[in-house]
Amino acid sequence: MSLETSRNISLEELDKQVLLHPVTSIAEHQANGPLIFNRAGGVRMYDNTGKSYIDGAAALWCVNVGYGRKRLSEVAKEEMDKIGFYHTFGAASNEPAILLADKLVQLLHDHAGCDHIGKIFFGLSGSDANDTQFKLARYYNNLRGKPNKKKIISRIGGYHGTSAAAGSLTGIPVYHKAFDLPFDGVLHTSCPNYWKFGELNESEEEFTSRMLKDLEDLILKEGPDTIAGFIAEPIMGTGGVIVPTREYYHRVQSLLKKHDILFMVDEVINGFGRLGSWFGSGFYGIKPDLMSFAKGLTSAYFPMSAVGVADHIWQVLADGTPEVGMFAHGFTYSGHPVGAAVGLANIEIMEEENLIKNAAEVGAYLKQSLIERLGDHPNIGEIRGEGLMIGIEYAAEKGSKEAPNMSPPAHKQVAIAAQERGLLTRALPFLQVNNFSPPLTFTKSDADESIDIFAESVEKVFGKG
Ligand SMILES: Cc1ncc(COP(=O)(O)O)c(C=O)c1O
Repeated sequence: MSLETSRNISLEELDKQVLLHPVTSIAEHQANGPLIFNRAGGVRMYDNTGKSYIDGAAALWCVNVGYGRKRLSEVAKEEMDKIGFYHTFGAASNEPAILLADKLVQLLHDHAGCDHIGKIFFGLSGSDANDTQFKLARYYNNLRGKPNKKKIISRIGGYHGTSAAAGSLTGIPVYHKAFDLPFDGVLHTSCPNYWKFGELNESEEEFTSRMLKDLEDLILKEGPDTIAGFIAEPIMGTGGVIVPTREYYHRVQSLLKKHDILFMVDEVINGFGRLGSWFGSGFYGIKPDLMSFAKGLTSAYFPMSAVGVADHIWQVLADGTPEVGMFAHGFTYSGHPVGAAVGLANIEIMEEENLIKNAAEVGAYLKQSLIERLGDHPNIGEIRGEGLMIGIEYAAEKGSKEAPNMSPPAHKQVAIAAQERGLLTRALPFLQVNNFSPPLTFTKSDADESIDIFAESVEKVFGKG
């Protein structure tokens, strides 16, 4: 416990008095107080009592290059000393923003087969990137003379942020409750989690066909001329690390094409190496019309997001200038020179240290080791994921797909037990799933240490099984 001397109360107490925490139970915060971190390095966090934790989650799936990178702080200082800040409205620009946009376009061309994406719009968060997509879908169809083509389909369990539009796209009820969300015109289709929602004796292929039928039925019911876009995280994160088949996305893509519906892809977690490939779109071999990035773009050392815009969309925007005038969307901090400089250095680190390959190798080891250690436990339903994005879903008993009926819920109890033992994992808000999404620098020995703690935590909550 550290003391805030001017007020003569602890920092913990002061936190309770002055902070409204995001995505936090106010009642639990007031009862238990905060967990205050004050130091980090590599894959480890330290709280203000000096206790150390392996960060099995890379904060919120985002500190891809790990903690304490001096090179990033040096680059940030250099750029702050040089400019500090100037905006990019009205065609003002700066070198790091230009170079980062170019780098991102090159990565998409070289590593995701997305050579149709040629323009980058910068923002500051995953939510605002998805808001930008939301508005671009409307803008595009207005300029194309299709003012009725405005609805956007997302998926149950999808997470796209919490701002008003992105929060509407999110398909998890707790983020809508009491906020009067989702907006009209946002629709949600089925969640492609085969383990959880597959029916008795339904093969994965049949399940995929059912998911496609649900989507097409929704499109036809609403009228294809009213649907502007479909948004998806290639592998869903917050919804429980859900890994559809390649066939699912290829069929979704042709369905959208058939009905002239934009494929809006949310790479906020998947992008920048988490899956052991550079981007989720490359992993699945899909070609989105719009793409959102954030988190790994700067490894969260600076708040920064980006939207990739396909050339055919940009052309419609450009041709529309005489009619609508300027493109009247953007944020004060769009293209922030400090964030862009950090983003460039962050990508250099990923390339120099081969972190994408490491994510693939250590991710495969981590998943296999978790399966060997816990796969037969009666309360572990499924261990799934790709690269360093792994989810563990709990079951009431062997063979059941029901979640355990416990209070607090099982995955929350496991997360608390793991935290006590020095491992950070999150209890996700849609299904009873804990996630492993550590920095991409994770080693096999970090994996072994984490699995020991995790297995002990599962046993503490459920017994040996
Ligand atoms: C897939 C996805 N999209 C969007 C967001 C929202 O990002 P932010 O919290 O930066 O607004 C998140 C955040 O976790 C995310 O996981």
